[in-house]
Amino acid sequence: MTAPAGGVLTREDLLERDRTDPLASFRDRFQLPEGVIYLDGNSLGPPSVDMRARIGSLLAAEWGRDLIASWNRHGWFRLPERVGARIAPLLGAGEDEVIAADSVSLNLFKLLAALLRRTGPRRVVLAEASNFPTDLYIAEGLTRLLGGSGTKLRLVAPEDFEGALGSDVAVATLTQVDFRTGRKRDLRRLTAVAKDAGVPVVWDLSHSAGAFPVRLNEDGVEFAVGCGYKYLNGGPGAPGFLYAARELQQALDTPLYGWMGHRSPFDFEVGYRPAPGMRRFLTGTPPILSLAALEEGLRTFEGVDMDALWRKAAALGDLFLRLADERLAGFGFEPASPRDARERGSQVSLRHPEGYPVMQALIARGVVGDFREPDLLRFGFAPLYLRYRDVWDAVGALREVLAREEHQDPRFRRRNAVT
Ligand SMILES: Cc1ncc(COP(=O)(O)O)c(C=O)c1O
Repeated sequence: MTAPAGGVLTREDLLERDRTDPLASFRDRFQLPEGVIYLDGNSLGPPSVDMRARIGSLLAAEWGRDLIASWNRHGWFRLPERVGARIAPLLGAGEDEVIAADSVSLNLFKLLAALLRRTGPRRVVLAEASNFPTDLYIAEGLTRLLGGSGTKLRLVAPEDFEGALGSDVAVATLTQVDFRTGRKRDLRRLTAVAKDAGVPVVWDLSHSAGAFPVRLNEDGVEFAVGCGYKYLNGGPGAPGFLYAARELQQALDTPLYGWMGHRSPFDFEVGYRPAPGMRRFLTGTPPILSLAALEEGLRTFEGVDMDALWRKAAALGDLFLRLADERLAGFGFEPASPRDARERGSQVSLRHPEGYPVMQALIARGVVGDFREPDLLRFGFAPLYLRYRDVWDAVGALREVLAREEHQDPRFRRRNAVT
């Protein structure tokens, strides 16, 4: 870590920042365990305080009382669109351009396959090797499935992406915020460069939605997918979302013809006719309990100014990096995220050769982040429930772990299934 510029901060300085924080009251919307500093909302957002009541009332007053009539009476049939419409403003998209469904993986499959159908002799799917692996696996499986038609996957490094947009490329998939380093790509510029080369891009916004303002319409983005369980606070395995620009929706032919995506599912016709708009991307019966939880998670954003949210996320990340410089010098950490907040999402990663046991020892102290191979400690700064003092305390705990060599305890070296 490098020596910090400016005076040395104290915890009192940060208590004062918490007192004047315009977003401070939003913390009351979340159910957080006592004594825990939760820096993993980039993996799984916490439940809102209203979540229990919402799920309880769904059980008692909807499913438990009205049973199957709830599909009509309580709007279950339209819930995927209703939740999509709640996600839309966070993405800078129209309400009819987003639908909540399935997982990121499945939604990516549907969009890539639909775009591969349209593009004739262009047969390459272009992706960056640093994308989240599920995106690569989906592209790999899809190109294998279509292998007979000469469809191929081409993986490049981020710096080679623009040069790889050849006349054989049918579609590209990019991730806006790198899950390892938090580095942010230029959505607007890369979409335009690809469009000029005749290549539609499907963006993975898993680490963008709810983390900072996204302006899909303004930036000319045509297609995107993303996650419901991270910054959107929808709960473990929450449905993902799918976005397609309004004027392009009618031409999209998803390969997964399911009855819920049919124009008229209760006519039980033999042949498939797609529903108009985004509903065509539904496949089977939507998971109502999970969609209701996602809708409740999204309510934590009600009344939130996303520009103010991003200012605080950037400030928390900057503070973390500064305190790491000041208080972790000599302990072997190196920042893996850009120091300039404009170049990252709301996650900051540090490298450490003993990253795994260090993170486990930190979690044992009540500061929850996560670890990614080979040496990355990831910290997410979700501004709706984190305070400036939490950043101070988290860095202090990290210092203690190293100073007392707590990570040498053998129990912290045992690998869990989820890291
Ligand atoms: C960028 C990115 N894409 C996709 C996923 C996972 O997608 P799925 O919802 O299909 O599990 C993750 C999970 O962490 C992710 O970080």
